[in-house]
Order: sequence, then C-alpha cells, then structure tokens
Amino acid sequence: MSLRVFLSALLLFGVLGVWRHDGVSGLVQSLDGEWNLWNANKSLSLPARVPGCVHTALEERGVIQDPYFRFNDLLYEWISLDNWTYATTFAVSKELRSKRAVLLVLDGVDTVASVWLNGALLGRTDNMFHRYVFPVRQLLKAEDNALTVRFVSAVAYAAQRRNAHAAYPVPPECPPDVQNGQCHVNFIRKAQSSFSWDWGPSFPGAGLWKGVRLEAFDLLRLVQFAALPRYDAGGSSWSLQADALVDALCPASTQTTLDVPELLSRATFPTNFLQGTAKYTFALNINASSNVKLWWPNGLGGQTSYRLLVTVRSQDGDALLRLESKVYFRSVELVQEPVGGSPGLSFYFRINGKPVFLKGSNWIPAHSFQDRVTPRVLRDLLQSAADANMNVLRVWGGGVYERDAFYDTCDEMGLMVWQDFMFACATYPTEDDFVRTVREEVLQQVWRLKSHPSIIVWSANNENEAALAADWFRIPAWRRPVYLKDYVSLYVDNVMALVKQEDPSRPFLVSSPTNGAESEREGYVAADPYDPRFGDTHFYSYVHDCWDWRAFPRARFASEYGFQSWPSLSTLRPVSVPADWNLSSRFASHRQHHPHGNWQMLQQAAVHFRLPAAAADFAGTVYLTQVMQAQCVKAQTEFYRRSRSELVGGLGNTMGALYWQLNDIWQAPSWSSLEFGGKWKMLHYLAADFFADVLPVAFEDDDDDALFIYAVSDLSQDLKLRVVVSVHAWSELEPVCTLTSEPAVVPGGSAVPVFKGHVAALLAGCGGCSRLTCLLAFWLEDGDGARRGPANHHFLCSPKDAVGLRAANITAKVREDETGLAVDLQTSAVALFVWLDAGALPGRFGANGFPMLSRNRTVQFHAAGNTSAAELSRALAVTSLSDLYAP
Ligand SMILES: *[C@@H]1O[C@H](CO)[C@@H](O)[C@H](O)[C@H]1NC(C)=O
Ligand SMILES: *[C@@H]1O[C@H](CO)[C@@H](O)[C@H](O)[C@H]1NC(C)=O
Ligand SMILES: *[C@@H]1O[C@H](CO)[C@@H](O)[C@H](O)[C@H]1NC(C)=O
Ligand SMILES: *[C@@H]1O[C@H](CO)[C@@H](O)[C@H](O)[C@H]1NC(C)=O
Ligand SMILES: *[C@@H]1O[C@H](CO)[C@@H](O)[C@H](O)[C@H]1NC(C)=O
Ligand SMILES: *[C@@H]1O[C@H](CO)[C@@H](O)[C@H](O)[C@H]1NC(C)=O
Ligand SMILES: *[C@@H]1O[C@H](CO)[C@@H](O)[C@H](O)[C@H]1NC(C)=O
Repeated sequence: MSLRVFLSALLLFGVLGVWRHDGVSGLVQSLDGEWNLWNANKSLSLPARVPGCVHTALEERGVIQDPYFRFNDLLYEWISLDNWTYATTFAVSKELRSKRAVLLVLDGVDTVASVWLNGALLGRTDNMFHRYVFPVRQLLKAEDNALTVRFVSAVAYAAQRRNAHAAYPVPPECPPDVQNGQCHVNFIRKAQSSFSWDWGPSFPGAGLWKGVRLEAFDLLRLVQFAALPRYDAGGSSWSLQADALVDALCPASTQTTLDVPELLSRATFPTNFLQGTAKYTFALNINASSNVKLWWPNGLGGQTSYRLLVTVRSQDGDALLRLESKVYFRSVELVQEPVGGSPGLSFYFRINGKPVFLKGSNWIPAHSFQDRVTPRVLRDLLQSAADANMNVLRVWGGGVYERDAFYDTCDEMGLMVWQDFMFACATYPTEDDFVRTVREEVLQQVWRLKSHPSIIVWSANNENEAALAADWFRIPAWRRPVYLKDYVSLYVDNVMALVKQEDPSRPFLVSSPTNGAESEREGYVAADPYDPRFGDTHFYSYVHDCWDWRAFPRARFASEYGFQSWPSLSTLRPVSVPADWNLSSRFASHRQHHPHGNWQMLQQAAVHFRLPAAAADFAGTVYLTQVMQAQCVKAQTEFYRRSRSELVGGLGNTMGALYWQLNDIWQAPSWSSLEFGGKWKMLHYLAADFFADVLPVAFEDDDDDALFIYAVSDLSQDLKLRVVVSVHAWSELEPVCTLTSEPAVVPGGSAVPVFKGHVAALLAGCGGCSRLTCLLAFWLEDGDGARRGPANHHFLCSPKDAVGLRAANITAKVREDETGLAVDLQTSAVALFVWLDAGALPGRFGANGFPMLSRNRTVQFHAAGNTSAAELSRALAVTSLSDLYAP
C-alpha cells in the first residue's frame, strides 16, 4: 500500500488546516532553498540549493563544467577529496517556538557530517540512508539562527575506517583500475556505486540530498505510518494492519479511528500513548460484503487503491492526529517447494494466489547526483519499463533506496519491485557502530517502504553470498570462518531479523543470486549459489555464442544476465567531441569501465555479423553493438520464457527473467536498454516484444535438425492458437511459402509447443530454400484468424553467411496524421534490424530494430515534445544491417 501521510504532506506544503482546531497541532517550517556552501580553505564560497549536492552547486555557479563531459570525472576528483560546509540562517515564528517540542529533521545527509545550530553541536551523521532528527527547541532564537552542516570527504573517511580495521582485511580494497574509482566504499553507508562501478563514474559527492525542516508539536508526533493488507485464506477475508510510530511528549489516552470509506469499513480503538517513541498497531477488518478490488502486476489486472483515513482524538473529541493514506490489497508468496520428484526446489512468486512470471530488468541510480533526477525523468524511465511489458524491476543493492515517488509510480503502474538492501559485491565490516547504523537504516527504510504493494520481496544484498562462495577475494581458507560469521551476523542476525520483525508481510532473501531455502540450510552461504536447481541465478558470458540457448543455465529464476552496447551518438554528443567517436579513442576506453568490454562487444557481434567495413565507422559500430545486445538478450529471455512449463533433467520451470540493466547513470557503454536521458536502445524495443503477454518462440534442438515453436502465454485464460510460419528468401520480398499448424490449446500461464518439425523437411517443401538462403517469420493466430502477440523470426544461419541478402535501399517519408507523426518506409530488398534514429528529438517509435521482409512498413513516432513532421524528417536516419558493409 502506498502511503500518503497526509499530515506530513500537508505540512511540507505549508497547509496547516488539518491541524488547526486540535490544540496540540504541529507546525512545520521548511529550511529548503538557497544555502551557502564553501570548501575547507574557503577558496570557494557559493550559494547552493538544498536539496542538492556540491557538484551540482559548483556546476550551476559555473565553477565547473558538466561533470559528465569527457574526462571531467578525473579532473574533478578534488571535489570529493575536499571538505565542504553547508550553512543557512533562518528566523522562527513565535508560534513555532511556543511548541513544547521542536525537532530539526534532515531527510538525507550525504554522508559524513557534523550538524551545528547556533554554535552547538547537534550530532554527527554517517549514513546517507538515514533521516536524522535532532531536538532543537532550547537552541532556537527568533532571528538569525545559524544552521551549519560540516561534511568531511567520504573518500577520506572510508580510508580512515579501513585503516582502523586492523584485525583482517575487508575486501575488495579498491575497484579495478579500469573504473577510475575510489577505494573502501564498503566502509561507508553511501551509494556503493558512487565510488565507481563497471557502468558508472566515480563521483563520491557530498550534500543535503533530501529536505531539511523544523517540526514542532505539543503532544503527539507521527514519526512513521504504514498500512499492510492481510489476507485470511480460511475466511477469504481481508484486513488492514496499520502500524504507527508515534512520539508522545507525555502519556495520552485517546481514541484512534481507521476508516476505509469506499469499503464501508471503519473501527475505533482506545489507544494509550506512552511517553517517548513507540510502535502502535491496529487491525481493521474489511467489511466482508464489500468487493475488494486487488492490486495486480502490469498486464494482469488493475491497480485499484483505496483511501485509509486515520484520526486520533482526545477523550474530549479533539483531533490530535489525522492522516490519509493510500492502501492497496494484494498478497505475495515466494514458493520454494519440491519440483516433480527432481532434486531442487521451485522458486516463483504467487501474487493474489496466482503464479506470476516476472518479466523486467534491474534498476540502477538514474544519475550520480540524485537532485538531477527530475520527477519527469523518473516517470519517463518507469513508463518505458511498463510500456515494454515489464512487470518487475529490481532496485539493485549498489545504489540508493529510491525516493517515495519511485515506489508510488511503481504502485500505480503495476511494476513489482525486488528491493535489495544497499550492499553489493563486497564483504562488509561488522563493528558495533557500523552494525548500529545499518540497523537504523533498515528500520527506517522498511517503515518508509513497507506500505507499497509494488515491493514483493526484500533481499539483503547483491552477490555477496556468491562472492564468498566463489571466493572472489581470495580469502585464505583459515580465515574463511571469520567472513562467514560476519556475513551471517550482518544479513541474517541483523538485517533479516529486523525485517521479519517489522514487515513479516513479504518474503525475504538474504542475497541474490542465492539458493534461497537451500542456502539457508547450508548456513546462508551455499557451496554454489548459482545452482540452477535452486533460487535465482545471475549469468554472464560474453565469449559464448549468445544465440545458442544451450549456453544458458536453465534456471528457476534469472535475476541478472545481459550484454553491453554503446549508446547512440545523440546521447554521447553533449559529453564528447568528434575526435572521441572512435572505438580506439581515449574517450572510448575511458567510458568503458568493464575490462575488455569494447573488445567483447565486437567479438560477440562477429559471431553472427560482419563488422563494419571501416573501423572508423563509429556510428555503424554503435549500431552493431546495439543489434548484438538486442539479439543476445532476446535469445536468452525467450529461452527463459519458453522454459516456464518445462522440466528438462529436473531443471526449468523458469519463472523470472530480469535482464541487466534497465537504465544508465551516465553516457557510456553499458548493459542498459535505456540510454542516459531515456532514449530507447534497440534492446528496449525488442523487449516490448519478447516480454509480450502472448509470444511465439522458435528454437532448434540437438543435431537432428528439430525445430520447435512454442506459444508462451502469461494470460489468465486459455487460448486456442495456431502458428503461421512464413519462409522468406533473403533475396526476395515475397514469402516463398507459408504453412499453418493445427490449433493447439495454450493454457493460461504456460509455454507449450505448437509446432514441431525438421528444418530440412520444412525447407524441402518450400521451393529452393536452404539454411543459407532463407529465414523464418512466424506468428500466432486464434480461431478467428486474429494475430495474438507479436510476429517473431528465426534465423537458419548467421546473417554474415546469408546468401542472397542484398544492400537494402530504404526510403522514409514522414507525415502527420490524426494520430501524430508517422514514418512510411519502403525498402528495395530484405532488410535486417531496420533502425530509425530521431537523434536528440525526444520521443520514441512504435516499433524499431525490426526486419523488413516486405516492401512497406509504417511506424509511428510518439514525440515527447512539440515535434513537427519537418523536424522529424530532418533528424531521421534509417540504418539497416547492409549499410555497414562496403558497397
Ligand atoms: C584551497 O583548496 C583548493 C581545492 O582543494 C585548492 O585547489 C587550493 O590550492 C587551496 N588553496 C590554498 C591557498 O590552500
Ligand atoms: C578535512 O577534514 C579532515 C578531518 O577534520 C582533515 O583531516 C582533513 O585534512 C580535511 N581536508 C582538507 C582538504 O582540509
Ligand atoms: C458492511 O457493508 C454493508 C453494505 O454493503 C453495510 O450494510 C454494513 O453495515 C457494513 N458492515 C460494517 C461492519 O460496517
Ligand atoms: C581512431 O583512433 C585511432 C587511435 O587513436 C587512430 O589511429 C585513428 O586514426 C582514429 N580514426 C579516426 C577515423 O579518427
Ligand atoms: C534509393 O531509392 C530511391 C527512391 O526509390 C532512389 O531515388 C535512390 O536513387 C535509390 N538509391 C540507391 C543508392 O539506389
Ligand atoms: C508501398 O508504398 C508505395 C508508396 O508508399 C505504394 O505505391 C505501393 O503500392 C506500396 N506497396 C505495397 C506492396 O503495399
Ligand atoms: C507546442 O506548439 C504549439 C503551437 O506552436 C504551442 O501552442 C504549444 O504551447 C507548444 N507546446 C509545448 C509543450 O511546447
């Protein structure tokens, strides 16, 4: 359930109506806005926005250029090595100061700082993921209150903590050189990717990255509120559990009313608030006669929300607290049970009692500087995920717990969230103060987020079980027990114990990849956390032919897999100069943070494609890396989707495919399907098809030439479908022949074969086709001849070996019609991976990266701005595979 704490929302926006009549009302004064900022020796002193960070302040004042431009990440390293101070002065109303308690609330401090008010030290901060609250009433004056936040370098702090940890190393010490990063990020509770990652730059920033305010009250303050739906399967009834964390200045005897008016459900509870901060829990039974509409993942139903009204009244009937929250009803289970007598356990999610195949990707921070992520950027990225038929995103554990708007939007769009805690690819220390700060982080984040129906699982870390199991850090055997003990202590005894206590409503995993219940049985670090018979799997292989599904683990659940590509020139242009557009340039290696990444992309592309005739053809190289990436991830995802209903040697029943990674943090080569700025790569267009609810998938098995076509359906109802296979020669724009299968029943939520044959037999019956001269196109039809799902195609050879494939001359005409902008394409020959690029014009095409097997095709352009047909026509470039080859 998403929570809209009416109270804080109103207060933040300065509307105080709800509080006014109650005599113990709260007041809020925002301290956001323009502050002053200076560095250690005061050589720099400038105004700075709060919320914000040092880098954006420096850029806005013209002290530095765009930090993402070319090599500026190196040039601006000094910023993260310096110490910075944020300061503001403010006046306080008499009304506010007359309250019995006044708190200074800092929603996000990045990261290590001391906070001072009028010369007095309020406290110290060491965790970017905390909200810090300090009582300040005694220190406030009417005018000229001086609030100062003194940051020390996060890089220096991390190194200092590392040096203080003398007993044994806590690896990795530093990122690989190719990342140009900083060391010891595991010693600081800050976005782990801010010290660099294999897709991101090193900008260990500092700043007040969330709001700052004063909160004043006389009796009660709501610290946190959350509402969780509970389904009682026995009685087929719903109830709501409302948890309130309340700070009371003195004991108070009250009545609390919970009301969901649209569901005719209301109850009042006598409540005695104790002095201090404590948790209060209420249970509201939902009226059995009301028809509760459930929250469903994208594609499976609606996302109905209801209003929950909570009022706390004194014995005299005065309202002391009042809030409104959005609530949703859904249940979630993670099912790990024996699989048809084979070794291993299933691993899938049941939402509202229904097994759901999770389709989606992994989310990383959308910018190094969170204040640069505007609501529009955020919404656009999430909309792109939903529009590509995704139903899940994993908020990966090396970034940040995302802002409220992220989860609100996921709730609205039906995007499920696999929520990691922010620990990734490392071992972590377990000193008392580190564990203490982590515990507070976990408590705060779980309370903040647990009302969201979109979050379906908590997971304590990314790849840290695997790191120990596979010994990434070469820990000597005699020392291993120490690391295992630390691992269990941090993620099991602390993170898991706290989550289970505060939110037993959803499943919890200790890591990803993990063997889940089997890892638990093995003491939380399994011998092989990648075991496809258990839990989830991450899988990367760049050297193996990615079109060959035999290379992929037949996993229960694939939570990470992927291939890199370069972003388009229009995305690179603002941060580079023409001399950089060359795979051999210093820029091209500087932006590539994955060892040998540029070489691997070409190697993989060369398996099936000819490389551009001219090595200098950078645009062609970018295009080809996107073709390679799109086709590789398509092949792997289709393998997982068609494996949903099948067990082969005990493996399979795959129920999740989340490729790595959805979005980018800057303009660089990476595994993303969305470029920095939101432009869709070819992969994202293909994802919209390979994640479609109904999908035909073709593959060949064994050496006996067997060809299968499966129908995959995520729908609830059964379908009766036949497959139409159309055989095309590379050399012609008319199909050579077409065959249609007998109709087959495709049960809801299944993947079943609808065609089985032999390639040779199929081709023999079809003119003079051979593997080298023809390819297959196919689609599904229902009894009425209506197409269900997208068309798909299957190559019988690598395009580089195709015989008869000619250079395609594709002309494009842009016109405006009643639905917007349309591009009419006409080709002179069969064309592969036809790519429409509108440059920097914001928007996207209705389809892209498709084969043209007939002369004409019309594609819509959905402009995000005010784009005319003439502008699109000027910007539009059309590329297809044969354009890479020398004439
Ligand atoms: C002050 O600090 C800046 C930034 O770290 C540095 O470039 C400069 O040399 C320092 N100036 C003095 C006078 O120390
Ligand atoms: C930053 O502060 C730390 C701790 O006070 C100090 O050791 C360090 O020298 C300072 N750095 C600079 C650049 O002044
Ligand atoms: C439940 O709703 C019905 C109307 O559908 C109403 O008559 C009844 O009073 C409600 N029950 C409760 C306990 O509110
Ligand atoms: C690409 O970069 C390499 C290495 O710097 C250089 O030799 C080559 O001439 C460049 N090509 C173009 C077209 O700029
Ligand atoms: C491509 O087709 C267009 C329109 O049909 C024609 O004008 C043009 O000459 C052709 N280009 C080539 C290289 O054949
Ligand atoms: C393709 O489009 C052209 C003009 O846009 C039209 O003249 C032609 O008839 C179309 N061909 C087919 C096969 O639809
Ligand atoms: C788009 O253009 C129209 C007409 O020129 C103008 O009225 C409108 O304000 C523009 N909208 C935006 C979002 O720029």
